[in-house]
Order: sequence, then C-alpha cells, then structure tokens
Amino acid sequence: MPVSLSPNSLPLPERSRDALSQPKRRQGESDADSLRETRIKRIVILISGRGSNMQAILEAGLPVEIAAVISNKPEAKGLEIAARHGVATAVVDHRQHASRSQFDTALAEEIDRFRPDLVVLAGFMRILTADFVNRYLGRLINIHPALLPAFPGLDTHEKALQEGVRIHGCTVHFVTPTVDHGPIISQAAVPVLPGDTPDSLAARVLEQEHQIYPEAIRWFAEGRLALENNRVRADISQASAPALRSPWAA
Ligand code: GRF
Repeated sequence: MPVSLSPNSLPLPERSRDALSQPKRRQGESDADSLRETRIKRIVILISGRGSNMQAILEAGLPVEIAAVISNKPEAKGLEIAARHGVATAVVDHRQHASRSQFDTALAEEIDRFRPDLVVLAGFMRILTADFVNRYLGRLINIHPALLPAFPGLDTHEKALQEGVRIHGCTVHFVTPTVDHGPIISQAAVPVLPGDTPDSLAARVLEQEHQIYPEAIRWFAEGRLALENNRVRADISQASAPALRSPWAA
C-alpha cells in the first residue's frame, strides 16, 4: 500500500505578491472576499511529452487558474490534452536556440507573458540554467519519479530495480540550481514487487505522482506552502500514516 509523506505543520505567512498579480480591493468587498480573491494563483505548466501529470493537475479541480501549458517540443502529446481542456498552449522549441541560456531566456519571456505565481515542471525534460531557476526560486516546482535524494537523473525505475530497493516512489520538490536536489515538499512510496519490470514499477509510481502533484499545488494555491531560506515551510495538518514495509508477508 502506498504511503504519502507530507511536511509537518508550521505557521506560514502568505507569500508576498507582486503588483501585477495583486488584485485591487473593490468597493463594498469584505476582507473575506478580498482574501479569497488573492488566493487565485496563476499556474504555468511546462511539459515535454505525454503530459499525464499535467492532465492530473488540470482535472484535479484545483482552486487555481491554469494560465498556460508550454512545451519545448511541438510534438508533445500533452499539448493536445491541454488544448482539449481549453488551456492556452505555447511552444518554445529548444532546437531553435543556439545555447541553453538563449533557450532559457526565450522560455522565461514566454512564461512571464502569463504572469504565473507558480511554474510547474511536469515531465519537462530540459536541464535549466541557474539564472532561470533563480528567477523563479520559490515558485518553481518539479516532480521526480524516485524517492530523492535516491536516484536523481534519468532511468530511475531501472536504477531502483538494479539496486534492489524494496521501496520506491516519487518526490515533489522546489527546484534549485542543483538538478533533482531541491527542498522536498512531499513524497509517496510504493513497494517494489517480485517480477517488477521498469514499466510495471513506473506505472505504480505514476499513479502516486498523479495524487501528490495536484495535492502540493493545492497547498501552494491555498497559501500553505512556501520556500524560505532554502527550506520548505508548510502549514499542513498531518495525520500519521501507516508504515510501508516491503516485502510484506501475506
Ligand atoms: C513523470 O514520471 C515525471 O515524474 C518525470 O517525467 C515523467 C513525465 O510523465 N519527471 P508525464 O509527461 O507527466 O506523463
């Protein structure tokens, strides 16, 4: 049985907002109305391919405005899914840019057109420059298909099977300049079962990705999650979860 691990409960001040995204109080509007309005965060999702995490986010009924889905590949299947959901799409093709930093500059320009509060990497298969990451620090998150810090990089399910781990999973984290290494927001763990292949293990992990990524975005949207001094600050009431043991004798 999978187990979701979440941060401890901590008081959290609402992140300060820039002038662009700060709505003005209307005449006759109460504090509660105003607060509710300031909670509608704008999200931009970056993808490179299939887009199943993006789809889970679009279909989770989150209290957010999905401002756009941007891909670095024009052929990414996820673009069609986003369009079917009525979400604006854009392509910034990395092959059209001479260097990583030129691509990142073009990508940031495209992202900023949509004035996002949060940029969500959902299967975005590009290494980002430190300049790009620092521009969005605290409002850039990623999902990685392993229990970080184990198995950063590619082919995580193959590596998990090679190492013979009994428990594997996925991680949602704030992005920092070190690839697959940012402060961890949440993790879900699944057992590795006898006879697992990379594909069967990937499918079990992906099911959990589709749970914990929308959940983390909801926390951010509700003003309950922030990056402060390189640490996750979260105002999340946490129940104790049952331990996951693997193998688990029937
Ligand atoms: C997911 O496993 C995600 O964790 C990783 O890339 C994969 C993307 O899948 N970063 P999808 O495009 O969301 O279906």
